[in-house]
Amino acid sequence: MAKEYKGYIFDLDGVLVDTAKYHFKAWKRLADEMNIRFNEDDNERLKGVSRMASLDIILELGNKTLSEEEKVSLATRKNEWYVEFISKMDASEILPGALEFLKMLKENGYKCALGSASKNAGLILERTGLKNYFDTVVDGTHVSKAKPDPEVFTLGADNMGLSYTDCVVFEDSVAGLQAAKAAGMVAVGIGEASVLTDADMVVKDLSEFNLNML
Ligand code: BG6
Ligand code: MG
Repeated sequence: MAKEYKGYIFDLDGVLVDTAKYHFKAWKRLADEMNIRFNEDDNERLKGVSRMASLDIILELGNKTLSEEEKVSLATRKNEWYVEFISKMDASEILPGALEFLKMLKENGYKCALGSASKNAGLILERTGLKNYFDTVVDGTHVSKAKPDPEVFTLGADNMGLSYTDCVVFEDSVAGLQAAKAAGMVAVGIGEASVLTDADMVVKDLSEFNLNML
């Protein structure tokens, strides 16, 4: 390891837990009700994107324009269905290597932060038992600017009392990797290298990652 980084910031959905399938099921139900064609490929575009921006993408797919009030009511219904799914989650839905890596970081005195766009992060951390691994949790309820703006990650580093260049971010979304780079942090992509071109390095999941790779 050329440099020892002090802080490790994790996106939640798609990095630590597999919640994309629940987001998809809930959005799909809404899209079906509105007769909007929406498939798994379209769902890729929603990764890392806020709830209201996700709805805008779906409405655009269906060529629909709605009032702000109607949009809030649709997003609220989608979220109620999504919360039904995540309320039943448990530790079995933690992605490969995530728990082992978080444990190792904690045991070795590194600092960890969550940096997620989700307003449901608290519930997911509680259901999966991951909450205690984080020194600070920054989620969609704490930030005003969505990824690719770096706010969610810079706030995480600020809360840990670390400089941005001492932090490494783990992200599965293009917008999230751009946010990490904009913050001056090392960006590790989780997923496909052909998609995650902004990342400093890409691994399939955290089971493939170790600190010597930095
Ligand atoms: C991100 C997901 O983590 O959170 C997005 O990748 C999702 O797909 C966003 O839209 C917001 O989530 P929530 O739980 O606040 O609707
Ligand atoms: Mg994600």
